[in-house]
Amino acid sequence: MMTFVKALAGSIAMLAVASTLSAQPASESRAEKKTILIGHYGSLTGSEATFGKSTSNGLRLAIKEFNASGGLKGQHIELKEYDTRGDAGEAKLAVERLVKSDNVVAVIGEVASKLSLAGAPVCQEAGVPMISPSSTNPRVTEVGDYIFRVCFIDPFQGFAGAKFARENLKAKSAALLVDQAQAYAVGLAEEFEKNFTKLGGRIGTRQTYTGGASDFTAQLTSIRSAKVDVIYIPGYYTDVGNIALQARKLGITQPLLGGDGWDSAELAKIAKDAIEGCYYTNHYAPDQPDARVQEFIKSYKAEFGGATPDGLAALGYDAGRLLFDAMKRAGSTEGKALRAAIAETKDFPGVTGDITINAKRDATKSAVVVEMAGDPPAPKYVTTIKPD
Ligand code: PHE
Repeated sequence: MMTFVKALAGSIAMLAVASTLSAQPASESRAEKKTILIGHYGSLTGSEATFGKSTSNGLRLAIKEFNASGGLKGQHIELKEYDTRGDAGEAKLAVERLVKSDNVVAVIGEVASKLSLAGAPVCQEAGVPMISPSSTNPRVTEVGDYIFRVCFIDPFQGFAGAKFARENLKAKSAALLVDQAQAYAVGLAEEFEKNFTKLGGRIGTRQTYTGGASDFTAQLTSIRSAKVDVIYIPGYYTDVGNIALQARKLGITQPLLGGDGWDSAELAKIAKDAIEGCYYTNHYAPDQPDARVQEFIKSYKAEFGGATPDGLAALGYDAGRLLFDAMKRAGSTEGKALRAAIAETKDFPGVTGDITINAKRDATKSAVVVEMAGDPPAPKYVTTIKPD
């Protein structure tokens, strides 16, 4: 039976090759392949909607620039995009559509680690390279050798947050408030705790919630009585905004501290001055005096009605540009060749820093710390933390 199936598969494959060859004289095949289709899956609606929208904008800008520069030997990039609505089941379906029906040559996405973990096995199995711009949980790229990311990972981000809390804020004690439904939040909280303790700090209390909750009074009351110096909340922006509002109402005055999941213009819209004087680790800060960053901001503003790009937009842009660079080096969009070229990426000049893809298919990069400052509060660059 097995041999029969194999033989059948073999002859089907040969037939496919034969028909491609016979049906397409050189000129026609060029005409037919004028565009290269890539996919993006992201949350374009729901409580993490800015994650997907910003990524999409950054990616579209990268595509526009690449096409304007001539594309891949004259072939233009085209984008197929699906909304995951922040849901793991939708994320998996979206990636199945992209690789099985749309036949994209590569996939960009997701932002949230939990959703990348849902989509990655589909790409791995299909042999289609996937680049997550921004999922920081280590498990994402462990799915397999077709899965990459252009951002740092949470063992480093947790270290950066802990180091900043201990050394810059001089915090001796911290409380944790963790979204137990997100792989990202659970992992980042662990890494913060490990590093904060190693640096001589103490965790006063660890409280949990489930993303989308509306009342955080019980957890915040416990945190208030723990009398800690800082409160670490490695969640996503909608929840963090609500938590900040409620914390201030309960008389909690300590600074809140978080990770990249805070990065959205929506955070300040929800929390207003309740988030002032709070800090988070991120991939980029719009007020970094770096020429490369400022050039990107100028192009992005021109393209999207004056909006300032957030970290997701910057990472979406970098993920796209890195993918196109790999296509050029591979001279092909075939899965295996493209995968190998992405894996070989060295010192790629991203707006979120220089990107080298390491043996684990992750990027080793610095993190920035930003403070929510001003009226209304907006992220202001504070410092850069380098990996050891
Ligand atoms: N790092 C987050 C995760 O893995 C996603 C994120 C990245 C959110 C950057 C905002 C900014 O889930």
